[in-house]
Amino acid sequence: MRISVFGCGYLGAVHAAAMASLGHEVVGIDPDAAKIALLSSGRTPFFEPGLPELLTAGLARGRLRFTTDPSEAAAADVHFVGVGTPQRKDGTGADLTYVDQAIADLLPYLRHGALVVGKSTVPVGTAARLAKIVGAVGARLAWNPEFLREGYAVKDTIEPDRLVYGLDAATAEQDAALLDEVYASAIAHDTPRIVTDYATSELVKVAANSFLATKISFINAMAEIAEVVGGDVTQLADALGHDTRIGRRFLNAGVGFGGGCLPKDIRAFAARAEELGRGDSVAFLKQVDEINLRRRQHMVDRVVDSFGGIVHGRRVAVLGLAFKPFSDDVRDSPALDIAVRLNGLGAEVMSHDPEAIPNSRRLHPQLTYTEDLDEALEGAEAVVLVTEWNVYRGLDPVATAAKVARPVIFDGRNVLDPPAWRAAGWTCTGMGR
Ligand SMILES: NC(=O)c1ccc[n+]([C@@H]2O[C@H](COP(=O)([O-])OP(=O)(O)OC[C@H]3O[C@@H](n4cnc5c(N)ncnc54)[C@H](O)[C@@H]3O)[C@@H](O)[C@H]2O)c1
Repeated sequence: MRISVFGCGYLGAVHAAAMASLGHEVVGIDPDAAKIALLSSGRTPFFEPGLPELLTAGLARGRLRFTTDPSEAAAADVHFVGVGTPQRKDGTGADLTYVDQAIADLLPYLRHGALVVGKSTVPVGTAARLAKIVGAVGARLAWNPEFLREGYAVKDTIEPDRLVYGLDAATAEQDAALLDEVYASAIAHDTPRIVTDYATSELVKVAANSFLATKISFINAMAEIAEVVGGDVTQLADALGHDTRIGRRFLNAGVGFGGGCLPKDIRAFAARAEELGRGDSVAFLKQVDEINLRRRQHMVDRVVDSFGGIVHGRRVAVLGLAFKPFSDDVRDSPALDIAVRLNGLGAEVMSHDPEAIPNSRRLHPQLTYTEDLDEALEGAEAVVLVTEWNVYRGLDPVATAAKVARPVIFDGRNVLDPPAWRAAGWTCTGMGR
């Protein structure tokens, strides 16, 4: 099929390359000329495992190209819209400027009978509004939320765990058939497929992210209690997780969630619910957000306390900047935030991350960064592990002790084995244990 993808960020670039790998003919469109130049030459503007290979293969086969020119979408039968929906600068709702602009850019080139497929995460009600706009030129709209996880985006796009089609009832059969053709490979592998209305499809995405955020904040709330009573939240989570109704995943206490999705999605959902007169229904999301943000300050307080209340002038190694491993995404990252807060208190912060230094430096040039883990550790008076990269999980307590000036480590992700670190002379503090 001939496909266009508007937006070539974390979602769109992967989607475009994945669709090409499935045999479709794809054009990726984005106004960011630097991004388009990189992608066109087979280089990725961000770190995503497996994407470079997919990109190179698609370009080499001539099935994939990238452009800043929306008119090149004209030949496509299906147009995906995967542009950003960040938090508004003047509030907590979603900023739909980019979605509206992408639709406006596409509109002059939209053929009668073409299908526009929204993938961005949007407030419920957006699809119904956009359907009228594209309907005016005889095109149709579907909403097909994306559930990919950064770090696993290629696999999640090619082999999604479910497909959700939000469709107009009047043309549902025809539109579902077209989407089935796009996703023929996933359909052939019996991927669960939910065909529904626009509103439900929009809700599925924000509800899923709200649930995941709530699960993380729930265990972090338990961590706060466990710390007061001298319990261990990791054992608590293990015990809870054996109940299959609860499950162990997303029950890891730590410095909390971040990234370009969960924080802004729960805020936008709460804001949209207020507009709908149902603010009370998801009022708990505000607490979920508050618990989450408290974790960052809690970590900072612990580090400061370890220096007797003044961190000014002390060498602190911050291990991790990305919001999670296998990503270079630092949007709303707890790890970067903790580095910034410690730096703001006058600590001599040395930040390390295997992938996220360039993005961090763009946002916070005032921080000191090193790509050399040994250099980060050398002479540190406190080590703060805030992104659970394997390279940190695998640190040897004995060898690491020889590098630092003071063997004090804070495990913000509860991934170290405290007895092993203590045996090597460390003061090792986890979160909620
Ligand atoms: N990143 C994820 O893991 C993920 C997962 C699921 C859903 N989503 C959702 O997908 C959407 C995109 O997220 P992202 O992380 O890829 O954001 P991103 O910021 O990485 O990418 C957005 C891209 O859209 C481009 N853009 C802006 N205006 C445009 C226009 N008029 N035409 C074409 N392109 C335009 C930007 O230049 C940018 O490259 C958001 O709604 C997000 O919530 C993201």
